[in-house]
Amino acid sequence: MIKITVPATSANLGPGFDCLGLALDLYNDFYVEEIDEGLVIEGCLEEFKNENNLFYVSLKKALSELNEAVKGLKIVFDSRIPLKGGLGSSATCIIGGILGAFAIKGIEVDNDKVLKIAKTIENHPDNIVPALLGGITVAVIEDDKVYYEKFTTSESFEFIALSPDIELSTEEARRILPKNISLVDGVYNVSRAALLAMALSKGNKENIAVACNDKFHQNYRGQLIPDFFEILKFAKENGAITSFLSGAGPTIMIINEKENSILHEKLEKYLSTCERKWKMSVLNLEKDGAKINNCK
Ligand code: HSE
Repeated sequence: MIKITVPATSANLGPGFDCLGLALDLYNDFYVEEIDEGLVIEGCLEEFKNENNLFYVSLKKALSELNEAVKGLKIVFDSRIPLKGGLGSSATCIIGGILGAFAIKGIEVDNDKVLKIAKTIENHPDNIVPALLGGITVAVIEDDKVYYEKFTTSESFEFIALSPDIELSTEEARRILPKNISLVDGVYNVSRAALLAMALSKGNKENIAVACNDKFHQNYRGQLIPDFFEILKFAKENGAITSFLSGAGPTIMIINEKENSILHEKLEKYLSTCERKWKMSVLNLEKDGAKINNCK
């Protein structure tokens, strides 16, 4: 079988709605092979064992774009990234499925082509680009193409993901956003997104803290997540560099200095007093992106 490993991602990073994202060292593995006929899907919930499976849909789409076909397919999931959690689980299926098509047919991966196919499935590139390439990415779609820049940040930073025991689909979390934004809010976000990208690339903590603020989505979505605003405040008061809603949520992402590891304990204690059950994962920036391995 072919093994495809795709990292979790955190999108938006505060002000960079639909354009900033980063990859984390938490992974979904997918195993795929061509079989004589039919579709066999293992290792996931019953509701995903059918032709609407996002990995399968993405793989088929890529095969069609590559003018290729398969007789049948076996797909095995080994997932660690929570579903509908704001950590890019859908993007792992999209990128994994597309890479699966290239790998099964022995076609050399072309990142631009992968992203061109991926953006027809998910039309905002802030998860799909870091899922494919790793690192921190700024990405935009112009006409038919995804344009991006990739960079990394200070090795002294860690990323603390706090995930509550609720699910929030991206579609639902997009529906509640206002259709228009004011010029004032537009300037607020665009200036901070630009500053944040530069500040992250240089590891400038003071500028990251100021830049990582948002007027487009967090104030609306945060209201759907119990204790969201209080947790952000608690993290800040206890030395975190910044924190923000990861993608469309409900996960909260904290950027912290590794040397401020006392924050882990403080957070555990604080979260145990909250209304929902929260899971904390201390992660690192993943710099290499998705990988394909032949494993027979
Ligand atoms: N940027 C998207 C959103 C999520 O906030 O709705 C990830 O693509």
